Amino acid sequence: MGLERLEEVRASFLADLERAGVDADAVERVRVAYAGRRSGLLQELAGGLRELPSEAKRDYGRALNELKKLVEERLDEAKARVAEGRAASADRRVDITLPGRRLARGAEHPVHLVRRRIEEIFLRMGYDVEDGPEIEDDWHNFEALNMPPDHPARDDQDTFYIGASHLLRTHTSPVQARVMESRQPPIRIVVPGRVYRRDSDLRHSPMFHQLEGLVVDVGITVGHLKATLETFLRALFSDDVRVRLRPGFFPFTEPSAEVDISCIFCAQRGCGVCSGSGWIEILGSGMVDPRVFEAVGIDPERYTGFAFGLGLDRVAMLQYGIPDLRQLFAGDQRLTRQFE
Ligand code: DAH
Repeated sequence: MGLERLEEVRASFLADLERAGVDADAVERVRVAYAGRRSGLLQELAGGLRELPSEAKRDYGRALNELKKLVEERLDEAKARVAEGRAASADRRVDITLPGRRLARGAEHPVHLVRRRIEEIFLRMGYDVEDGPEIEDDWHNFEALNMPPDHPARDDQDTFYIGASHLLRTHTSPVQARVMESRQPPIRIVVPGRVYRRDSDLRHSPMFHQLEGLVVDVGITVGHLKATLETFLRALFSDDVRVRLRPGFFPFTEPSAEVDISCIFCAQRGCGVCSGSGWIEILGSGMVDPRVFEAVGIDPERYTGFAFGLGLDRVAMLQYGIPDLRQLFAGDQRLTRQFE
């Protein structure tokens, strides 16, 4: 005990604190070792006061108080440095001067936009939206639609077969058959969906999109078909679009019609899109063939109906001026970004 001891403690305190640096835990350990209330060294040194002869007590006491003050001050400074160090390293983790990271925003795909617009038009006219399987059986894709196994129309469809009895549906028409099998008229549906054919060039992709329409009830006529398609196509393209029905052939409709709209690009003066004809072929349609009704269990004596099929990708290409069908499915964001 004595002044030398105080000097030793002072020196070791300063050395320990120096070593602790800005490490919060280390500084705290130094505090507990020296200034801790229970067993800190300063506490111990104060205890030594009692044992000293009274003449030495005054100097020792004063020196001890000085040491206490020094320890307190230096600990406070060290804690302040710790706090500063924390703030500084936090600053290093988040550099608030960096430009913000841009959130990648998705955009609706043009085919999806077209699909939703068309669905909305038909929902307003009281139709339901249905769907069906993309892996279909031969019966629904062909046979129920009046295409028996040796029917020549099957050749045009370039089908992807899956085993002997299943295939990737080549059109959305099989959903007509599924809906008619499962419920009786009145039926008013549209069916958007993916379809598949072995075909690929500027205007064809092995996967593309169609929308099927079907109306079955008592007393449905070609007049209903024409009026419905005119209303639909004018709502989709523009009020002044003209609609023309040409005789056509589909195995599941009789009579059948190819439907054209007046060219929306040249006001029928003739341009590249309509190949100078002033008309653009837009969909296939017709009155449901009685043989289809028989196949799916609907009474052809009682009910008539019309159906139509439309290529959604083709509509998107026309509406947004996309020259190559395959661009729609290339997954290139430079296309979709234009629809943000
Ligand atoms: N399924 C036909 C196709 O893929 C399109 C079609 C034509 C659908 C006439 C119909 C229709 O419902 O009546 O080419």
